[in-house]
Amino acid sequence: MKKVLVTGGAGFIASNFLHYMVDKYPNYNFVCLDALTYAGNYNNLEPIIDKDNFKFVKGDITDIRLVDKLFKEENFNWVINFAAESHVDNSISNPSIFLTTNIIGTQILMDKSRKYEVERYHQVSTDEVYGDLPLDRPDLLFTETTPLHASSPYSSSKAGADLLVESYYRTFGLPITISRCSNNYGPYQFPEKLIPVVISKALKDELIPVYGTGKNIRDWIHVYDHNIGIDMILHHGKVGEIYNLGGRSERTNLEVVKTILKYLNKSEALINYVTDRPGHDLRYGIDCTKIENELSWLRTYNFDKGIKETIDWYTNNQNWIEDIETGNYQKTYYQRK
Ligand code: NAD
Ligand code: DAU
Repeated sequence: MKKVLVTGGAGFIASNFLHYMVDKYPNYNFVCLDALTYAGNYNNLEPIIDKDNFKFVKGDITDIRLVDKLFKEENFNWVINFAAESHVDNSISNPSIFLTTNIIGTQILMDKSRKYEVERYHQVSTDEVYGDLPLDRPDLLFTETTPLHASSPYSSSKAGADLLVESYYRTFGLPITISRCSNNYGPYQFPEKLIPVVISKALKDELIPVYGTGKNIRDWIHVYDHNIGIDMILHHGKVGEIYNLGGRSERTNLEVVKTILKYLNKSEALINYVTDRPGHDLRYGIDCTKIENELSWLRTYNFDKGIKETIDWYTNNQNWIEDIETGNYQKTYYQRK
């Protein structure tokens, strides 16, 4: 029996995490704390909202009084911090909120984790904290000991949070773990990120914006495999350790776009090259040997299987995207309350 706090649970990755965990561990109780920012979608929690071992709390991780009250009332064993501002382009237009949520929010959750003596604080981080790799050196990969070298306000805020988490382990002995994952894809991803943007636009025969040359490389992992990795780290990981998670599926952005267009039987004429993202990271390549060897973590998806399933999901759930486009998704919580 564990009482688990999951922050950011109405977002893409953590909603998928909750779908998996709430079902898998009926004896654990899960509390989701989410501020329902523009990226939070209460509809994502539909499959679990009425389960006995699940509870939703609307609130901000930077609201010290609310967070203190919640920790006091619930007596959490585990805290898993997914909540973040997560979109690089937004961090370029408005860095401030990234520092507040991603760094200060992490500090507040860890202070309360210390005060109420949680058994584990897990920080969901990203491979972007390592910066980028050159396109002409496929032999280079990020390992857990690669120095942090972030490029955008988003990745800098995540790197700052990671350093803070490590400092709470060393200074206060807070029992922490950190996971750093590559680019996720799968159901319920907000249509601001590459794959849902491409699918939703292709379905409507709209132009698909490809930044710069389209040659930038990302390592794609299905969200389900990310989440089984976090489950393993929570149950079997070593306190104080960092674990990389990756898909071993590097693709250029153009390859991803063309794969989607081909599966949907749409023309490549929809590809529209647009101005590049400032500071655009060239390549992410992640070495996840540590978690494969130490925790026997293995992916269940390859990219070909995962992307087809994902395209089918968005094709069959176009109302989910429409609700976002009309803004209706932001009403669901208040209608159901
Ligand atoms: P997302 O943007 O889809 O969801 C973020 C969620 O956090 C939303 O539900 C939002 O309402 C909530 N939130 C934001 N600010 C909050 C606050 N101040 N208080 C409470 N809730 C708040 O993000 P995602 O893509 O699911 O990413 C989740 C985590 O995983 C993030 O920490 C991100 O850095 C990390 N990550 C993402 C990826 C990826 O490919 N998307 C890869 C590796 C790591
Ligand atoms: O690597 C993990 C990270 O992956 C996470 O930490 C971030 O939260 C997540 O947003 C993601 O960051 P990226 O910047 O890699 O993801 P995004 O989907 O925004 O972009 C993927 C690539 O596609 C990137 O090279 C930019 C490009 N792109 C993106 C969009 C939205 C386009 O060419 N066109 C687009 O419209």
